[in-house]
Amino acid sequence: MFPQVRMRRLRRTDALRELVAETHWDPGRLVAPLFVVAGRGVKRPITTLPGHHHMSPDAAAEEARALWDLGIRAVLLFGVIPDEEKDDVGSAAFDPQGPVHQALGAIARATPRMVRITDVCLDEYTSHGHCGVFDGREVHNDATLPLLDRVAVSHAEAGADIVAPSDMMDGRVAHIRAALDSAGFSSVAILAYAAKFASAFYGPFRAAAGSTPAVGDRCGYQEDPRNAREALREVDLDVAEGADLVMVKPAMPYLDIIRRVRERTLLPLVAYQVSGEYAMLESAIAAGLIDGDRARRESLDAIFRAGADLVITYLCRWAAQGGAAR
Ligand code: PBG
Repeated sequence: MFPQVRMRRLRRTDALRELVAETHWDPGRLVAPLFVVAGRGVKRPITTLPGHHHMSPDAAAEEARALWDLGIRAVLLFGVIPDEEKDDVGSAAFDPQGPVHQALGAIARATPRMVRITDVCLDEYTSHGHCGVFDGREVHNDATLPLLDRVAVSHAEAGADIVAPSDMMDGRVAHIRAALDSAGFSSVAILAYAAKFASAFYGPFRAAAGSTPAVGDRCGYQEDPRNAREALREVDLDVAEGADLVMVKPAMPYLDIIRRVRERTLLPLVAYQVSGEYAMLESAIAAGLIDGDRARRESLDAIFRAGADLVITYLCRWAAQGGAAR
């Protein structure tokens, strides 16, 4: 007890604090989301995600190359298409000429070692904006599974290393695993959005991806923010179905879930610091209310401290350009 015990002894200098720091991370632990559109030479700012762009496949490949040179080792691709190309079942999601498929090829040519992850979901491609087959009242689980298989296999054919289903249909991990294996893609990994909550924090993303549901919400398939045990069941099921990595999303409001999943599984654990978390940080920083570098760093420190191995974040460029350095 005090005065023999003095916690401040190990906090006296930067070097001492560094020596006893319990959490370490670097840009190699971060995954960069990229929003891909059709065309060539397109790089348009996304108003809801300051610092991010809608990019054509060639521009996405250039961005991936720049990120690689800065130490980022993985990208997560989302496709964005015009409303008139959308249909009831989101068939543009498995069009081999689609922006994600083209970007996979372009990134592979420009930066072959970059790990290419794709979001497997229909919401950016359906006219109603839901993540599956929708009858105007509900999203049909089992009818959606074969469509997800087609998306995943089409991404594998175009060169994805990891496919990440984000739809929250039951049974989709096993379904996609079987589809990949029978199409000859047994070495393509599955990152399951295992504990994905029905969150208000996806707002800026949905504006960026044009994927806000036209009617209703996603509460019938995404998880209730009040439930932790349910999230663990989702993770258990995805692990049993053959997921290679599991995700918790969003990150900061769900640090307890990250911790509990960490203690429960031996799989690599990915956390997604989503668009609304980024927007909150950046707007408070822009308003001069909090210090930018410290707040961004602390947000990532907290997610890694909770137990994440990897973090998907809109802060990749900032971190890799020296922001992460203390
Ligand atoms: C679904 C998907 C969403 C996000 C990633 N994949 C949106 C949703 O579920 O409504 C959100 C990511 C973010 O907010 O940064 N394809």
